[in-house]
Amino acid sequence: MRIDIITVEPDLLRSPFENSMMKRAIDKNLAEVYFHNLREFGFGNYRQIDDYQFGGGAGMVLMIEPIAKCIEKLKADREYDEIIYMTPDAKTLNQATANHLSLKKNIIILTGHYKGVDQRVRDKYITKEISIGDYVLTGGELAAAVLCDAVIRLIPGVLGDETSALTDSFQDNLLSPPVYTRPSEYEGMKVPEVLLSGNFPKIEAWRTEKAYERTEQIRPDLLDD
Ligand code: ADE
Repeated sequence: MRIDIITVEPDLLRSPFENSMMKRAIDKNLAEVYFHNLREFGFGNYRQIDDYQFGGGAGMVLMIEPIAKCIEKLKADREYDEIIYMTPDAKTLNQATANHLSLKKNIIILTGHYKGVDQRVRDKYITKEISIGDYVLTGGELAAAVLCDAVIRLIPGVLGDETSALTDSFQDNLLSPPVYTRPSEYEGMKVPEVLLSGNFPKIEAWRTEKAYERTEQIRPDLLDD
């Protein structure tokens, strides 16, 4: 999978891709990630990329021309399955969307800044808009890193233990059950007996029951779907 990220702050983005699972995916050639600094497509000596909004109001808006130039340049070299805009005024990212995107070949992720992008960018180019939650970040860079992490770890071959993504929270719209490791007793707190029993059907049944219990308590809305 190839991911092209258009950003005003490429340095803010680098670290998540240079560590842990995303680095591993890149090292194994299962993912290619490229950063494109929007400023390089800006106007004049100052490489202007934003301007005041028509109609007045606080906050600058990213202009369409620099973004269009960058997207058109990328599109000239290959076809893209999705052009995604990270923005808080969109549907919230969930596991189903991450699963869906992990099967794509080429995607562009556009990160917003300031008041966001000129609406015409969204109308002309964007095929999918994603928020990572009901709060506003300074820019879409961290949101893009979150999206990439959620997607890249699902690409076949990235995770060492292939089954572990399948047992993640949300993979079946349930939160994960509690997990334990050694010691089996800590300051009088014991690991549930069933997990030490070696009886795997019983362990599976216990885990499912706990997953439902946890989901009902913390995220009952997931059970409505
Ligand atoms: N940009 C700013 N806030 C965001 C959010 N919550 N999700 C995605 N992109 C954003």
